[in-house]
Amino acid sequence: MLNPSDFIKESIEEIKKTVGDETAVIGLSGGVDSSVASVLTKEALGDNLIAVFVDHGLLREGEAEYVQKTFEPRLNFRCVDASEEFLDALEGVSDPEEKRKIIGKIFIDVFERVAEEVGAKFLVQGTIAPDWIESEGKIKSHHNVALPHGLVLEIVEPIRELYKDEVRIVGTELGIPDELVNRQPYPGPGLAVRVTGKLSHEKISICRKANAIVEEEVQKVGVDKELWQYFAVLTDTKVTGVKGDIRDYGYLVVLRMVASMDAMTAHVPELPWDMVKTISRRITAEIPEVTHVSLSVSDKPPSTIEFA
Ligand code: XMP
Repeated sequence: MLNPSDFIKESIEEIKKTVGDETAVIGLSGGVDSSVASVLTKEALGDNLIAVFVDHGLLREGEAEYVQKTFEPRLNFRCVDASEEFLDALEGVSDPEEKRKIIGKIFIDVFERVAEEVGAKFLVQGTIAPDWIESEGKIKSHHNVALPHGLVLEIVEPIRELYKDEVRIVGTELGIPDELVNRQPYPGPGLAVRVTGKLSHEKISICRKANAIVEEEVQKVGVDKELWQYFAVLTDTKVTGVKGDIRDYGYLVVLRMVASMDAMTAHVPELPWDMVKTISRRITAEIPEVTHVSLSVSDKPPSTIEFA
C-alpha cells in the first residue's frame, strides 16, 4: 500500500472519476471494512453516498444505537429496521446454511428497495483483498450486479487491494475512532449463526444477553486486545440444573474465545480463569433460562470459529 494519506487522496480521485454526480449506496454493517469504505467514499461523494444500515434483528445488544450514534453525524445515513421481516422468515429454521440463505435473500430485497428509492446507480462495497483472493479471483474488479427485482448497479470497491491491517491504518487516518477500527469481526448473519438448532425470538434474545456479558467482562479485563473474537453460543442442548431447592432444566451456553491472525486458523489462548468464572456466574445468575455454561477449547482446524 502507498502511505495512507496518498492512498486516500488517490482513492478519492478515482471514486469521483467513476461515480461523477450520480448517487451511490453502501451497506454499512458497522464492521471495520464497510465503515472504512463508507467514510472514504463519503470524502469523494459527499451526501451522494447513502450508507444503509439494515437492522435484521440479529445484532448484538446496543449495536444499532452504536452504529447510528457513530455514523449519523458524518454520513448520509439510513437505518432500516427490518427485524420483523427477518425474524418471521427465520422462525423455526435450524439448518445453518438455510439460515444464511434466508438472511442473504431478505437483505438484498431490503437493500434493493432503498437503492431504488434513492435512485442509486452505483453500489460501493467494502471488499478487501482476502475476500476475492480466497474466492480465487472470481470477483472481477469491474462488474455490475443485477439485483433480484431488476435494479442494475455498478460496483465500486475502493479498498479491494487492502489487507485488514491496512484497512485499519486507513480507517485511523480517516479519523474513525480506534474502538471501531479495532473491533472484533462479527458475522453478517449475526446471532442466527450463534444459536444452534431452531431459531426463535426467545433463543436470539438469550444469546444476545449472554454475548453482552462476555463482551463486557472480556473488555473489562482487557483480554479483548489478545483475542480475534469472543462471544457466546446458545446451544440447543438442555441441561439439568438446580435453582434454590428446585431442579431446573435450561439451556447450555458455550463461551468461545479465540486468537487468530486472519480467521483461517485460530487457537484458544490461555485465559484468565477468574474472568471465565465471572462470566459463567453472571450468565446463570442474570439469564434464568440458562442452567449451564461451558468453555470451548477447540482450535481451528479442526473446528471452525463459529458453531454454525
Ligand atoms: P469460521 O466459523 O468459518 O469463521 O471459522 C471464519 C470467520 O468468518 C466469520 N463468519 C462469517 N462472516 N458471514 C460473515 O459475514 C457468515 O456467514 C460467516 N460465517 C462465519 C466468523 O465470524 C469468523 O470471523
